[in-house]
Amino acid sequence: MQIEAHDLYKTYRDSRGQPVQALCGVDVHVGAGEFVAVSGPSGCGKSTLLNVLGCLDRPDRGSCRLDGEEVAAWPETRRAAFRNRRLGFVFQSFHLLPFLSVKDNVELPLLYAHERPAAPPLNVSDLLTAVGLAGTEERYPTELSGGQQQRVAVARALVLGADLLLADEPTGNLDPATAQTILDLFADLARRGRTILLVTHDPAVAGRASRQLRMAGGKIVHDTADQLGAPA
Ligand SMILES: Nc1ncnc2c1ncn2[C@@H]1O[C@H](COP(=O)(O)OP(=O)(O)OP(=O)(O)O)[C@@H](O)[C@H]1O
Ligand SMILES: [Mg+2]
Repeated sequence: MQIEAHDLYKTYRDSRGQPVQALCGVDVHVGAGEFVAVSGPSGCGKSTLLNVLGCLDRPDRGSCRLDGEEVAAWPETRRAAFRNRRLGFVFQSFHLLPFLSVKDNVELPLLYAHERPAAPPLNVSDLLTAVGLAGTEERYPTELSGGQQQRVAVARALVLGADLLLADEPTGNLDPATAQTILDLFADLARRGRTILLVTHDPAVAGRASRQLRMAGGKIVHDTADQLGAPA
């Protein structure tokens, strides 16, 4: 999936009603099959950008085109259907449902998919094997470590064959070897045409992506694609 975001602004209000500028004019183009890492200090707007690009939040101003469609202008029902069918999320907190087994958590997007998925759904056991969790189908999130829960969240994000994967610190709870497994999986997905946007504080993790963006104060302040002379 191709992303074309132009002049995105987003302001939140804090508990006292004071404005907090989370995005202040973000411009970014990402091509299909790019694996992009986003980094920058805490509070600089990384999660907000992922939420806006992922149709979870709307920008106050600016344009956000996904595969040429101005998704920011769509009504919520259409955004939700698009999100479910085309996008995969790995959140900073995993949002697993504690009363569902690992298998049922991974299959949750299939339950919500009213339309036929764009790509055929992937097999849950194969996905769990790919994230290093073979044989955990019948376990429950509370019986898993933080890193294992994180990997269930990665499998869930991929089950519908999403063509844009938005991952917020997906390796933050993982030991280095397991983190490499997940990053290998992402790199492989990108090679097969999926677009990956990964937020990370870890330079080694960012180094695995084919392109690095740096944010500060709600803007993109550095883009390695610029150095290569490619469009930002
Ligand atoms: N729902 C909200 N209500 C009010 N302010 C918010 C909300 N979400 C984010 N913010 C504020 O917007 C700014 C950007 O937040 P964001 O979560 O995008 O940062 P981040 O770069 O992801 O940080 P971190 O690395 O700590 O996850 C911060 O100042 C934050 O306090
Ligand atoms: Mg964040």
